[in-house]
Amino acid sequence: MAIRNLRYDGDEILRKKSKEIEKIDEKIIELAQDMMDTMHKWNGLGLSAVQVGVLKRLVVMDMYEEGEQYILINPVIIKEKGTQECDEGCLSFPNQYGKVDRPLEVIVEALDINGKKVRIKAKGLLAECISHELDHLEGILFTDKVKPGTLEVVNPENQKAGEKNQ
Ligand code: NI
Repeated sequence: MAIRNLRYDGDEILRKKSKEIEKIDEKIIELAQDMMDTMHKWNGLGLSAVQVGVLKRLVVMDMYEEGEQYILINPVIIKEKGTQECDEGCLSFPNQYGKVDRPLEVIVEALDINGKKVRIKAKGLLAECISHELDHLEGILFTDKVKPGTLEVVNPENQKAGEKNQ
């Protein structure tokens, strides 16, 4: 297990489309574990492989409640419902936050780390996080969707303890 280097705003890899994972081999399993560690180090709720420089359709998320850790391989949103306005950040945009509209509920299908097909019905924060992370797989960033005039740069010293990023 290892902490990987994050890719930040301005790195052109963040604009590229990630590729389907055809085989869940040891390299993918190691990548998923490293991503989980890297996300935890930076208090993230979610992280996409592209954010550690790997253009593969792999997302990890943690809602920090028991049993709420996810590794999603080749995830696809098959249904969206409603809208919620979210205060959002991103590990690739340190200290930047803004308001973004996200679906209130989503149903996502993916493979888990064992290659088993899973279907997750999510709402609220988890639905927001899934929408944000799946955008990364298309090269879409939250700053593309942020409501005009709501993007703020926060001094890290003023950041609330335990504030989470995606
Ligand atoms: Ni992000």
